[in-house]
Amino acid sequence: MQRMENDPLRPRIVESDDGSHTLRVDALNEHYHSHKGALQESNYVFLKMGLELFNERDHIRILEVGFGTGLNALLTALSTKGPSVHYVALETHPLELDLVRQLNYPMTVPGDQVETLFEAIHQAPWNQPLAINDRFTIEKRETALQDLPPIDLVDLVYFDAFAPHAQPELWEPAIWIALIERINAKGVLVTYCAKGQVRRDMQAAGFIVERLEGPPGKREMLRATKP
Ligand SMILES: C[S@@+](CC[C@H](N)C(=O)[O-])C[C@H]1O[C@@H](n2cnc3c(N)ncnc32)[C@H](O)[C@@H]1O
Repeated sequence: MQRMENDPLRPRIVESDDGSHTLRVDALNEHYHSHKGALQESNYVFLKMGLELFNERDHIRILEVGFGTGLNALLTALSTKGPSVHYVALETHPLELDLVRQLNYPMTVPGDQVETLFEAIHQAPWNQPLAINDRFTIEKRETALQDLPPIDLVDLVYFDAFAPHAQPELWEPAIWIALIERINAKGVLVTYCAKGQVRRDMQAAGFIVERLEGPPGKREMLRATKP
């Protein structure tokens, strides 16, 4: 459900340190991406540390927790080196198109036809898959992760929820126990978060967890692999 004008959780656009926009929710003291560089963070955490592991594959399925501005989806759709992708993106509060169209990704994200692609991703209907081109299919689902019905297993999870202090229920041990069941063997989950408790809970759920160097402005991030 979209957030109304007077909703305290309604986000506003801010410019991050690399010039790309992100959204800020003042009431949560949270940004949709790192304010040190939204584009840099998405590229590094989700594409470089996640998607690039699958460069030799023909096709993979990705699950994104927290579709938000669609920046991670856009960068994935623009990535032409690796596999074709079926991208399932979960979102409880889809953004208004008016707000999305004010984001400066068409100007700051390198690539061809960025604006057209970004618009197509946002115009795609909710709750049904749409092939944007022969390499990228988007399936946006308006649902909480906790309510997601069974779907085909995925190879890669972009875990991009608000931080544990803002949305603790998305970082509970039960989340990792449920997610590992939705991932193929050798599948991977990446997140910008590097909290010790999160790492230990992921390990307890059965993941092998690496602490990796973080994107600019963040010391570390986590990558969890299903054995
Ligand atoms: C950090 S932002 C996501 C940023 C996003 N990946 C992007 O590129 O803009 C977190 C998002 O998760 C959504 N969200 C909140 N609770 C959720 C839930 N239970 N399941 C799925 N998404 C949720 C929020 O509405 C918000 O859009």
